[in-house]
Amino acid sequence: MTADWYKYATGYQIYPRSFLDTNGDGIGDIQGVIEKLPYLKQLGVDFIWINPVFKSPNKDNGYDISDYQDINPEYGTLDDVRELVDEAHALGLKVLFDLVVNHTSDKHPWFCASRSSKDNHYRDFYHWVEGKEDCPPNNWKSFKGESAWTYDETTQSYYLHIFDKSQPDLNWKNPKLRQAIYDMIQFWFDFGIDGFRLDAISHLQKAAYDRQVTDWEGDGPWGPFMNVEGIKTYMTELKALFDANGALTVGEASGVRSPEASSWTGDGGYMTMIFEWEHNARDADNHGSIPDFIAVLNRWQKDMDPGGWCGLYLENHDIPRIVQSFGDGSVAASKAFAVAYFLLRGTPFIYQGQEIAMSGLHFTELSQLDSVTVRDVKAYDSYIEKGLTPQEALDKVSAWSRDHARSPMQWDDSPKAGFTSAEPWLMLSSNYTERNVKKALSDKNSTFYLYQKLIALRHESKLIAEGHYCPVDEGNAAVFAYQRILGDEELLVMANLTRHTALLKLPDSILENDWQEIDLGQDVSCETLTKELSLPAYAYHVFEKRQ
Ligand code: BGC
Repeated sequence: MTADWYKYATGYQIYPRSFLDTNGDGIGDIQGVIEKLPYLKQLGVDFIWINPVFKSPNKDNGYDISDYQDINPEYGTLDDVRELVDEAHALGLKVLFDLVVNHTSDKHPWFCASRSSKDNHYRDFYHWVEGKEDCPPNNWKSFKGESAWTYDETTQSYYLHIFDKSQPDLNWKNPKLRQAIYDMIQFWFDFGIDGFRLDAISHLQKAAYDRQVTDWEGDGPWGPFMNVEGIKTYMTELKALFDANGALTVGEASGVRSPEASSWTGDGGYMTMIFEWEHNARDADNHGSIPDFIAVLNRWQKDMDPGGWCGLYLENHDIPRIVQSFGDGSVAASKAFAVAYFLLRGTPFIYQGQEIAMSGLHFTELSQLDSVTVRDVKAYDSYIEKGLTPQEALDKVSAWSRDHARSPMQWDDSPKAGFTSAEPWLMLSSNYTERNVKKALSDKNSTFYLYQKLIALRHESKLIAEGHYCPVDEGNAAVFAYQRILGDEELLVMANLTRHTALLKLPDSILENDWQEIDLGQDVSCETLTKELSLPAYAYHVFEKRQ
């Protein structure tokens, strides 16, 4: 395997809770992942990233870890993970785990010890500041919008949490904490794990506690923990560990801006690649803007072109699905978006269900929402007070719900979609009888087979792996068009991301070449390229230059 294999590869994200339940408890499990490895092989992906399966009270579905080196029994055991790693490796698939080291659960033994007294070994594993109740050390806000500090009576001190109060932040300034984390990471490398998705990694460093938040520009209230000075020390130490183990790493690094992201990734960077967050922006009702989507991806591609590397994605477990938020819900939309992002410079990821155009949920009762979201009951009540009907209020509060992306995988059209024999932990999408894996596999025009072709194309193409990114008709608000160029070789990609016919302007430098369309199962192929090309709703085309 060459050092740059990941440039030709595709990753697949598994949200284990909703992937496949093999023991009839309504919750997906590790054996379910093992069972479906041949399916993933058929799709053609090269590695999987699995969301956290560690011991956890599940306040944040596994992102609140209480034991880094054991598995939550609802998912299985360490032996199951061993089997998973062996089976995946036998099929040539690498396995990435989620590394959640910005915080632990408040039930982690480190935190239990830490909060118990001021002078125990684990006290400085977390951020503590002595104080009086109702008078937090500063005005920092958590990502939930509340104070980032919670008062703890036992030692009359506040602890910091940039997410939920059940997720206290680890103190990376403490070398003993860092060593404990590095030992844990080595445990997983020794176990056979090939790499990690680095959760919330740009937040490891915190500003001095006397920094008050005064401006709402830039990183807004989150400035004190967004890519703060000093973080490079920790990243350099982590990189040494990753490199020593030949790991593949992808960082969730909000706050790392496109101009500096190159230095975080690639040969000299801390991690193999980075997930940027900006192209996900949506309004309060979860509607994304296509012009912004194109503009943000275009900017990231240009800024990363000299040497950085992106993890490319449309969907994940935190955001409602793309066809719902940016598209019109149709299979045609799912395909246009697939082509648009898949051939960019970077390593594409497919989130489970994206390959069968899964589209999200329609809630009819508040109780259908998962507990994390139900905490927004207050918002629901306030909409009712404003005069909205229960359904309108529900649509409002559920618009941004993570549940849309977390609904169980749709394997077939049987009563529980082939996901479980029990009641699924979260409701199924009502369209599962139409959109499921069984049906997709029997339809040669399905989104599944488009992804299969795109993955195969990437496997073989040095041009796609290494070519430069060059925008085409930059500023077009509907059609995302670009070229990939490597020496004499050129690829031309265009996708109309809207539900209307749109025009694309092609420059002479493109028109004077001789092009050949790549068969990606599009409804209508494009006979000739012209100065002003009219593309029907969600049309896509990919051409390669004839040599
Ligand atoms: C994960 C979320 C999680 C948060 C806190 C993230 O960015 O993707 O699902 O709630 O980190 O760990």
